[in-house]
Amino acid sequence: MKISIKMKKALNDQVALEASASNNYLAMASWCEVTGYQGAANYFYAQSDEERTHLLKVVHYLNALGAVATIPAIKSPASSYKSLEGLIKTALKNEQTVTTAIHKMVEIAQKEKDHSTYAFLEWFVNEQVQEETKFETILQKFDLLGRDKLGINEIDKFLAVKASAPSEPTV
Ligand code: FEO
Repeated sequence: MKISIKMKKALNDQVALEASASNNYLAMASWCEVTGYQGAANYFYAQSDEERTHLLKVVHYLNALGAVATIPAIKSPASSYKSLEGLIKTALKNEQTVTTAIHKMVEIAQKEKDHSTYAFLEWFVNEQVQEETKFETILQKFDLLGRDKLGINEIDKFLAVKASAPSEPTV
């Protein structure tokens, strides 16, 4: 095997984390849809798809190395939220957890002089900067536009626009 047992485990844990993120965003999208936040629903359906592409990147990387990816069982996500703002806060927290996991893998790669995995992870490091910024920007909108019905409606419209222009880092 071209990667260590430790790195293989960390990458497989990442597959589970990305799968869980995809599932969480799917549940968030569904809640937004039934609550009447159509823009936010579209945004989170797209976000869920995006997380699945992250999962596949890691699966393909492991398999290409002959390390064999483990496809995980996924825990049921929360099915309801107190508010759209609370939901976005949860999303940001999830992304911060993913960032920590990615950074830990980078540290393992550095320690083990695993240059291939180090290079592979660079994309994810950049992606996480974007992911956290996305949710911080949305949270900022609650202060800027307000938390009353009109404010939330504006935020939903903002998310509708964002949903139609999903972003991925090019690096
Ligand atoms: Fe794949 Fe949003 O982290």
